[in-house]
Amino acid sequence: MIKAVRGTRDILPPASAVWNHVERIAREVFRSYNFGEIRTPIFEATELFARGVGEETDIVSKEMYTWEDRARAQSEKTQSLTLRPENTAGVVRAAIEHNLFESGQLQKLYYIGPQFRRERPQKGRYRQFSQIGAEVIGPPSSGSESPLRDAEILEMLATLLDELGITGWTLELNSVGSAADRAKYNETLRAALVPVVSQMCADCQRRAVTNPLRVLDCKIPADQPIIDTLPVIADSLDEASRTHFAVVTASLDAAGVPYTLNHRLVRGLDYYTRTTFEFTHGGLGAQNALLGGGRYDGLSEVLGGPRAPGIGFAMGEDRLVLTLLAALDQKAAAQQKAEAFIAPLGESLNAAALVLARELRHQGLWIELGEGSFRLKKSFEAADKTAHHIVILGEDELKSGILTVKNFSTGIQTKVPRAELAVFLAEPPRE
Ligand code: HAM
Repeated sequence: MIKAVRGTRDILPPASAVWNHVERIAREVFRSYNFGEIRTPIFEATELFARGVGEETDIVSKEMYTWEDRARAQSEKTQSLTLRPENTAGVVRAAIEHNLFESGQLQKLYYIGPQFRRERPQKGRYRQFSQIGAEVIGPPSSGSESPLRDAEILEMLATLLDELGITGWTLELNSVGSAADRAKYNETLRAALVPVVSQMCADCQRRAVTNPLRVLDCKIPADQPIIDTLPVIADSLDEASRTHFAVVTASLDAAGVPYTLNHRLVRGLDYYTRTTFEFTHGGLGAQNALLGGGRYDGLSEVLGGPRAPGIGFAMGEDRLVLTLLAALDQKAAAQQKAEAFIAPLGESLNAAALVLARELRHQGLWIELGEGSFRLKKSFEAADKTAHHIVILGEDELKSGILTVKNFSTGIQTKVPRAELAVFLAEPPRE
């Protein structure tokens, strides 16, 4: 028996209806903020992520699905390829490749699709997962650096979560400053870690040397009191980054979007500058980040493009669905039901039932077609599970054009002329 690979999942009805619902709402909200959809390839050159996300990050150093793609012809070269672990690097690559920055306009792009990371699977953490994300990027003259862009993205996220009916989220906010601020802070941290690092976990001991900022991501309880004594990044920010962040928070205050400052929120990807954020949700357990994002003012240049500051986020769609599923389960199951189940009384009526189903479907109804070899009791049982009504089609009904319809929620049985059937089945509206 061949099973789905560990960390991957099949999404079946009725849960798939919740996925579709989430994607539909996200598309509507993105539309109202004037974003357009971008679809980039699922695999890219490994170097894109090594340079964009950063060699020292967990994603690049441990979690990528990478392979040598052998040349198939003399004109080709063997190339190292990687299943995308995230989509920001791919979007910025595509924007550079298609000269999108030359228009001088702000580029507002969203994406919905699978990402791949070789992580230890657990609730809310998978090896193939789906992200719904958006990026706002452009040359400085397009206003891409403005703190208004940060505030608008965060306000849009608050709106999107509200539209999805997700309550009880927390927006955690920080600024990691410019690339120079980060480098300065890394050194401050490196020095501060020297006297204490021997008491910390093995990962932190390694990070203290390779990338001290990552020490702030440590979740080991024994290390927390030590981390609490380390210098905070806010004290390493230059004047311009401080002012930028102050305008972001003031704009959020003005828009009434609540947030909590978290000076340890440095995020697991190296491209971030200035604003970083995560929306967390208590109901998710250990993997509580619904979404994460931030500003990446230098990424385009790192990837060989022109200067094009940007900000964006990605939501874990699997985690959004987990949060919604309990509440939406019943509603989604009800929505999955067809308006009517057509029960032909005998196999000789199968073709007539197909014609009736076709007639009703053409009028926009959602129809389940039964089977004439079923006994009536079996048809009723099947109909009750899959539809709101059963329509019985026997010889008499076919001749007279008067059909017998039972509504399962009221239990009432009615005779309905064929010409009025579609209208009858569509009312009362589905729950
Ligand atoms: P990230 O924090 O690595 O950021 O991922 C964003 C979100 O994807 C997480 O908050 C989480 O909800 C979801 N996620 C990540 N890994 C998994 C997993 N293994 N299983 C399930 N869900 C997962 C990024 O990917 C950045 N590209 C976000 C961004 C866009 N920053 C700027 N623009």
